[in-house]
Amino acid sequence: MSVNIHNNSITFVEGPLAGKIFHPLWLRERLNDKKNLDPINLQRLYEPSLIDISISIKEFSYDEKNLTIKFSNEEVGIFLIKDLLNEVDQHNILPDKKQWEDNILKKSYHNYKILNNSLELNIDMLRNFHLFGFVILTHMSKKEGAVIDFAETLGPVRSTNFGKYFDVISKPNPNDLAYTALGLSPHTDNPYRKPVPGIQLLHCIVNDAEGGNSTLVDGLKIANYLKKNEKHYFDILTSVEVLFHFADKDVVLQNWGRLIELDSNNNFKQIRFSGRLDYVPAINPEKLVIFYQARKRLYELCISKDFMVSFRLESGMLAMFDNHRLLHGRTKYDPSSGNRHLQGCYIEHDVVEGKLRKYLSK
Ligand code: OGA
Ligand code: ZN
Repeated sequence: MSVNIHNNSITFVEGPLAGKIFHPLWLRERLNDKKNLDPINLQRLYEPSLIDISISIKEFSYDEKNLTIKFSNEEVGIFLIKDLLNEVDQHNILPDKKQWEDNILKKSYHNYKILNNSLELNIDMLRNFHLFGFVILTHMSKKEGAVIDFAETLGPVRSTNFGKYFDVISKPNPNDLAYTALGLSPHTDNPYRKPVPGIQLLHCIVNDAEGGNSTLVDGLKIANYLKKNEKHYFDILTSVEVLFHFADKDVVLQNWGRLIELDSNNNFKQIRFSGRLDYVPAINPEKLVIFYQARKRLYELCISKDFMVSFRLESGMLAMFDNHRLLHGRTKYDPSSGNRHLQGCYIEHDVVEGKLRKYLSK
């Protein structure tokens, strides 16, 4: 390993950090002694904006493990080469998400009875959820409230104007079509909320009716497909903002969003699709027509076997899915043939991701 100073910065010439340059202010912010960092919560005990911007390096030394710096203000810091490496490589302990393959459904079932007593299986379940955007739990309680009990083992429940949880059951004068016996084509839930709920859980108490099977769709796989094969549709779906709107006797909820949203690196971030609730803006008719063609194509892909799985939620089963990545739906059912009752709720990504990150970093 070889290190020198250039332009008031430490420059690694050889070794694992070869080519990396560290400014003294950046290094100074990372001092982790008791005076600078609370040893319990690892939070800074000072305001880093107040560090002298003209700080420089007075002396330095290094070996295979550590870089030691004496700053111009006489403070000394010892930095682990390993930590510097992790940070500059933006080391992400979470694995990259994967689009579905043919056998996706098979590996998504997890037996809750066994899972409940095994940290290893819990991690496995959370990893699968992270990678593929859903898991299906079997052998759960069939009782009402089980969805909240399970959700709260992962993180706080996101209450909405539907309450802490919602009963998916056919009822008169419903404020949402989910509460009828109609089929629901693939959709994401509540795109009109700010923010859109991250993760949805649906627990089946009873499903004795004819029909009422479940569907899930991989929005990530569809976005990848469109980007590669039908770029003109991908471009318009990732650029036109649509209004999503919900109204009942108490509230009018609205939010704008693209059907396919990308992050600042142009990677897939979120899909929004709910033909029941979307209001396309009156843009230039030529562009509008292309948008409508693209939305139709998106719908066709959503109901194609290449991107969708079908299964049945039986009593005591629970589906947990990423509402920013997957679409979900159900076939219509006949309420006179038997009862169907699901309970659902929402939780957010940060805590579920955070749990997996904690497990993986142990
Ligand atoms: C919902 C929903 C699906 C079902 O409640 O959001 O889509 O299987 N339900 O009833
Ligand atoms: Zn839904």
